[in-house]
Amino acid sequence: MIDQSKSKLDRREFLGAAAAASFMIIQPQLVRGTAANSQVRLGILGCGGRGTAVGSGFVQDAGARVTALADLFSDQLEAAHKHFDEIQQAKGYAAIDSSQLFKGPHAYKEIAASKEVDFILITTPPYFHPQHLETVVEAGKHVYCEKPVAVDVPGAHHVIRIGERAQGKLSLDVGFQIRMAPPMVELTRRIHEGALGKIACGLAYYYCGHLDRPDWPNASPEEKRLRNWVWDRKLSGDIIVEQNIHVIDMCNWMLQGHPEKAMGTGGRKVRTDAGDCWDNFNVIFVYPGEVQISFGSSQFNDPTFDAAVCLFGSEGSSEAHYDWRVNIAGKNKWDAGLGPAKEAEQFSAAGKFKGSLDQADPEKQKAFVASITSGQFHNQAALGAESAMSAMLGRMAAYSGQPATWDELQKSKEVYEPKIDITKLA
Ligand SMILES: NC(=O)c1ccc[n+]([C@@H]2O[C@H](COP(=O)([O-])OP(=O)(O)OC[C@H]3O[C@@H](n4cnc5c(N)ncnc54)[C@H](O)[C@@H]3O)[C@@H](O)[C@H]2O)c1
Repeated sequence: MIDQSKSKLDRREFLGAAAAASFMIIQPQLVRGTAANSQVRLGILGCGGRGTAVGSGFVQDAGARVTALADLFSDQLEAAHKHFDEIQQAKGYAAIDSSQLFKGPHAYKEIAASKEVDFILITTPPYFHPQHLETVVEAGKHVYCEKPVAVDVPGAHHVIRIGERAQGKLSLDVGFQIRMAPPMVELTRRIHEGALGKIACGLAYYYCGHLDRPDWPNASPEEKRLRNWVWDRKLSGDIIVEQNIHVIDMCNWMLQGHPEKAMGTGGRKVRTDAGDCWDNFNVIFVYPGEVQISFGSSQFNDPTFDAAVCLFGSEGSSEAHYDWRVNIAGKNKWDAGLGPAKEAEQFSAAGKFKGSLDQADPEKQKAFVASITSGQFHNQAALGAESAMSAMLGRMAAYSGQPATWDELQKSKEVYEPKIDITKLA
């Protein structure tokens, strides 16, 4: 027997004074019954690999409940509907109401306006993120937007303005889960406390295999292009902005800033898929204090996957790999003690990496839900835009073959326009 008076008290405590202000977002029917009482309701916009992985994490690890789904394509929507009904019914939750399944080119507006969601996970292709983020924030919903927040500089600047509008009204996270991985958090804390002494230079890389995609045999060339967005520069921002951004964001985090200039090269030498993305980048990023980071990446064939950031300073050096190697050598020796895990080497297109990132997603998801229920809202829009533009700086230098500065990049008016009419696709 549930004690109603007790649960009401818990409810107010649970949501915290500040959240009381946003109580309007949480529907009265949530007040009934303890389980419903404590759950934050999630709507997923973009029901692909990452949407399904992170959405499941929010349910399994962060106590949220998926109450709405949206996708451009019905096959993706139905697959996610089946998946989430299965995992939620196993937890005794009701099936997702058919009125909360949104399909087509306007699905993003419909899910943003839904009265059945408290926060929205944006896991559509990067090109759409500024538009989808703006619509969700304008609808007053808390939002978790996957990286990158934009594919071009005007888009990144727009995200900064959206973040300013969201300030204090709702919680806004960007999908850099590595900043929540306990081994990486401890390593970075030690680096910020001077464990490496004066940092002279570093190395950052992301060497991974080709990202295979289904054939979509019945799809038109335009539909195939959108479905295989990760091969397409205008839809993804190219591999340096879409994928390598994780290690560039780690550099910004560890060095507490963004690169001031870059010079580089790269190209599309061996990949043969239908897209135009490059398959390798090689860039020197120069951070404040003339700290030079040598960056390299690949996305072809099937090499041994490895992604890492290594810094070298007057007192020692650090290494932070996706697998298990997270440590400091030298005067302030330290090791995260993760030890070799055979599975560690596996690459995961959905971002579910084994090894030093095991707890990255669960910690990030729990912290985001707590920011909503406690009213201590996050706002990662500016940070997300800074990391996206840091990757774009490397792209600008590599594409032009000329050194590029942060200030020059800020003046870029180049808009990545894929010229795909999605109203004709669904
Ligand atoms: N943080 C991480 O580790 C990580 C890992 C993987 C992907 N990601 C990011 O997540 C995002 C999605 O990547 P993914 O691998 O899940 O891609 P995906 O192709 O598997 O899923 C994208 C989904 O969005 C849908 N979609 C496309 N255009 C749409 C539109 N206009 N409106 C509504 N739905 C639309 C597609 O039908 C598809 O279901 C990307 O930004 C990617 O960079 C992050």
